[in-house]
Amino acid sequence: ALIGKGQHRHFMVKEIFEQPQVIGDTLNTMLNPATRTLTLPAVPFDLGAVSKVTIVACGTSFYAGSVARYWIEKLARVAVEVEIASEFRYREPVLSPGGLAIFISQSGETADTLAALRYCKAHGQHTLALVNVAESTIARESEVALLTQAGPEIGVASTKAFTTQLVVLAGIAVSMARAKGKMDAAEEARLCQALAEVPANVSAVLRQEHRLREIAETIAPARDVIYLGRGTGYPIALEGALKLKEVSYIHAEGYASGELKHGPIALIDDHVPIIVVCPTDELYEKTASNVQEVVARGGKVVFLSDKQGIDRLATKALATVELPQVDPFVAPILYAIPVQLLAYHVAIAKGTDVDQPRNLAKSVTVE
Ligand code: G6P
Repeated sequence: ALIGKGQHRHFMVKEIFEQPQVIGDTLNTMLNPATRTLTLPAVPFDLGAVSKVTIVACGTSFYAGSVARYWIEKLARVAVEVEIASEFRYREPVLSPGGLAIFISQSGETADTLAALRYCKAHGQHTLALVNVAESTIARESEVALLTQAGPEIGVASTKAFTTQLVVLAGIAVSMARAKGKMDAAEEARLCQALAEVPANVSAVLRQEHRLREIAETIAPARDVIYLGRGTGYPIALEGALKLKEVSYIHAEGYASGELKHGPIALIDDHVPIIVVCPTDELYEKTASNVQEVVARGGKVVFLSDKQGIDRLATKALATVELPQVDPFVAPILYAIPVQLLAYHVAIAKGTDVDQPRNLAKSVTVE
């Protein structure tokens, strides 16, 4: 089928703006908003018996897995390892019996991820694919495939596939927590409510596009950009840096905020924009104090937070983008949006080929 860009200039921005819809479609496959309960499509083994989780993926899908690690460990109290497929497959990893291996892949065809799946099957793991293409090889070869409802993603830089992957991974974390007896009905209801509100909250973030475009224009001349975050904000910082590299060709690095002192602070001067992912959560104060350190050294900070977080910040001389106040559980899904829009508008300001960035392929089916 021929897919058009509609009123949008590029597939990337069309797909960014589809997110409220496709996140809603993905939630509909598992969430019952009336009872505020969550049911995954049939998984042919007991999630309550899983002894360990291994998540393997590449690129943006790897960052979705990196968010899931925080969720699953916190909610279900099961140990999680997340690994890049190209490293995992050759590392001869030790996998214990009773483990569940999750393979995240938009295309379901990434060669390294497929090889990792075959390794895990051969080493006695339960295997679960999280893909956007039901007929893909990774879906077919896994014991069970869960689907994102992103629809075809044409832009080479992944956007809506990422946020819908996060939605399903949140569902896996809740289901596993329940199966493990680590989550009561009240907590499940609270998290389901937060998930049910994500589409409307994503729409609210999208209404900040003009603000993000203004900020993007100030970032466009930069040679280097640093992204900082903590907890689930850390993989969002990594994903933000990846998006910017992919479409604008600006060198960008994501860092765990706590690592600032261990290197990246040496790079800070008034030419290096620092994008900070900082929702109000239990780590807010820590990241906010990293912001002070950066500002004190002349760093130009773009502070992505919510009303409380922006009001509480002592330093006011920064660019801020206000996101909705949400349960910290769903924050990474929301904070993915501004980093996508920043990357997109920096690329527009620079005139790069947003949908077909140089040297990149949508799907990497060879090593
Ligand atoms: C390529 C794409 C990325 C994607 C990665 C993994 O590098 O350009 O956008 O994240 O492959 O792809 P997958 O289909 O396995 O999610």
